[in-house]
Amino acid sequence: MNTTSGVARKGILLAGGTGSRLFPLTHVVSKQLLPVYDKPMIYYPLSTLMLAAIRDVLLISTPRDVDSYQRLLGDGQVYGINISYAVQPDPAGIAQALLIAEEFIAGEPVALILGDNIFYGNQLQALVRQAASSIHGATIFGYQVRDPQRYGVVELDAQGQVLSLEEKPTRPKSKLAIPGLYFYDQQVLEIARQLTPSARGELEITSVHAEYLRRGQLHVLPMGRGFAWLDTGTHEALAQATSFVEAIEKRQGLKIACLEEIAFRNGFISEAQLLARGRQFNNEYGEYLRSLTSTS
Ligand code: TTP
Repeated sequence: MNTTSGVARKGILLAGGTGSRLFPLTHVVSKQLLPVYDKPMIYYPLSTLMLAAIRDVLLISTPRDVDSYQRLLGDGQVYGINISYAVQPDPAGIAQALLIAEEFIAGEPVALILGDNIFYGNQLQALVRQAASSIHGATIFGYQVRDPQRYGVVELDAQGQVLSLEEKPTRPKSKLAIPGLYFYDQQVLEIARQLTPSARGELEITSVHAEYLRRGQLHVLPMGRGFAWLDTGTHEALAQATSFVEAIEKRQGLKIACLEEIAFRNGFISEAQLLARGRQFNNEYGEYLRSLTSTS
């Protein structure tokens, strides 16, 4: 089998879906545009891509919602990145995003992040940079949760080798859920093209990982208990995510997933650009941006 390795400089941000568990909130508004405390949900996964030094992003959403994302984020210039957009006509599965992104991927390594996944933690930047910078096969993460039956679940042996993968198992073989952040090498499109819809009619991302596992090229990085991984798919989870962000931000006076801040700290935008952006918002968010500059 052809093995490859490389660096992911591109990222797919998936913001479609039905959001049916959040009805009526999502009847007319896309889930990933809902607020998580002081910013739209989509900021959080986009910030994770930016922390991984990914500056070329394809956002995929529904025909109804893609324009709203474009209005919100534009071409990415204010964040020093490049954002393009594509439509997923129906929510036919997370793995379908890879096929929609075929031209964008253009045979290069790629990251895929789900638009409703929030990551936070002290070493997050190091962890995602590590994953993005040495891709050989596929890299996914394992995160211990109380209720693994809600997620894709991975079972590891004592050496960290993958023993099994299951999608929403009724009797999980481990407590390690797979968060919605994946890194793939150049084989991913060829693998995605061979998928067929599952019993629930979707192209399953677990099937992509199962194929990498069959090829002996699926790597699982532990995301330890020092990290927060929150998903926001239910009313309770959304409220908890909001409380979490509020508690940390109020305590520290620092923002989680402030795109302009990350862009500035990563050298994607200049101090003058950050200041100009800060002046656009006559509120606490604008004040925060201005406070990061030496002219504040
Ligand atoms: P899910 O939470 O599995 O699905 P959903 O968002 O439609 O919500 P619900 O189950 O309440 O109806 O999706 C996980 C993420 O992936 C979420 O950000 C939406 C996105 N997604 C797509 O963009 N396209 C798809 O076809 C699917 C299945 C999900």
